[in-house]
Amino acid sequence: MNLSVFPTARDAAAALADHIAGALRTKPDLVLGLPTGRTPVQLYRELAALTERHAVDFSRTTTFNLDEFLGLRPDDPASYRRYMERHLFRKINIDRERIHVLDGSAPDPEAECARYERAIREAGGVDLQILGIGSNGHIGFNEPGDSLMARTHRVTLRPETRRANAALFGGDAGRVPGEALSMGMATILQARSIVLLATGVEKAASVERMIHGPITTRLPASFLQLHADTLVVLDEGAARKLERRTENEERRR
Ligand code: GLP
Repeated sequence: MNLSVFPTARDAAAALADHIAGALRTKPDLVLGLPTGRTPVQLYRELAALTERHAVDFSRTTTFNLDEFLGLRPDDPASYRRYMERHLFRKINIDRERIHVLDGSAPDPEAECARYERAIREAGGVDLQILGIGSNGHIGFNEPGDSLMARTHRVTLRPETRRANAALFGGDAGRVPGEALSMGMATILQARSIVLLATGVEKAASVERMIHGPITTRLPASFLQLHADTLVVLDEGAARKLERRTENEERRR
């Protein structure tokens, strides 16, 4: 895994925004996998700012979001679809037809998952997958457990994940849906290139286990060790528990 550590969360987000803009210059029809959560909010702000300065062009980009809450309609104010509209899609020059987010209100969730896998295949696969990490080490909504699922699937959310997502539901974890739809581990690992963004000291322990620990279903992000092209972008807080530094690390101060 390659590692880049930046002094602040803002620097990390700006560097990742530049990385995405660069990838789009090389391949304007890039297929981009996108996360939600608090962490990417600053990244999306940076991408919106680059759009305003005409420094990035999303007109030919296709996007696939990682996950969505089960039972929420796309226009529900708490849905990840609406989150994406608010933070990114409304602010960039993306073709609406090329936006893909799982529909949490689909009458047949399993069929919706199969449709999503098909859509990713038909788009030619994900070129660049951006990820966050849950404080329990989940990626997308692939929760720690005895087993992991390969493909896009229906998942039961753990209590800590529902608590972490409570802000979207007026701070009430009890209102966070108990289930979600998520890309699976193979869906994520088949992306040609992956960048995981983690900021803040509350992510330091799972970041350390992800990089230096064993590959285990107890920490889904550890499977990224199997991917040949993964970059981990951190701020100082999230890097706090890393004593050993890899050769590829760039320290920028
Ligand atoms: C949610 C999302 C994940 C995200 C995680 C971390 O659970 N499904 O994709 O990585 O939150 O969120 P935050 O950035 O708010 O810590």
